[in-house]
Amino acid sequence: MIDLSLHILDIAENSITAGADEISIKIREDISENILEITVSDNGRGMDKETLLNVSDPFFSTKKVRSNIGLGIPLLKQMAEECGGKIEIETAEGRGTSVTASFQHDHIDRKPIGDIASTVSTLIFCHPGIRFIFEYRRNSGIFTLDTLELREELDGVPINSADVIKFIKDGISSWLKRP
Ligand SMILES: Nc1ncnc2c1ncn2[C@@H]1O[C@H](COP(=O)(O)OP(=O)(O)OP(=O)(O)O)[C@@H](O)[C@H]1O
Ligand SMILES: [Mg+2]
Repeated sequence: MIDLSLHILDIAENSITAGADEISIKIREDISENILEITVSDNGRGMDKETLLNVSDPFFSTKKVRSNIGLGIPLLKQMAEECGGKIEIETAEGRGTSVTASFQHDHIDRKPIGDIASTVSTLIFCHPGIRFIFEYRRNSGIFTLDTLELREELDGVPINSADVIKFIKDGISSWLKRP
């Protein structure tokens, strides 16, 4: 059983492959609207028309190295649609891409968010040169992290040093544990 944080990792990896140096990951849980929405946006190279048309097809990939099967987006789409939601992709060549997946929050088949604190801190650890903007909205509460702002506060300490990564991970985890 793959939880949603691993899908988020997959979609963010697409942004990295697309050469993005700015990636935003936004999650919104709203119980009154009964929705869980995940948006990953980037400033990478975007998709051409053919790619956009085929991106939901599991046998399409622009990766040349492997078996030519791309599963990241089709799996997320299938998951969203099975849970009363959908996937929306906005893309502009040379400018970037935004992928939004929505789910019925209380759908019985909806996977849990999973360990999003590890997902985000791992992305930052592995890609210190990328600006990550992470936002988690839960009902009226909001958690935000912008590695560009954080880097300024760090005053020369590398963002991917063990202490900083732990600070990020613990910060997200403890916010999520709030009632
Ligand atoms: N953020 C993005 N920016 C530009 N192109 C993208 C982006 N996300 C996906 N694509 C394009 O859509 C294709 C399909 O993506 P998908 O994640 O489904 O499969 P993949 O990345 O090719 O393979 P896999 O995810 O299984 O390793 C990619 O090969 C790429 O051409
Ligand atoms: Mg992929």
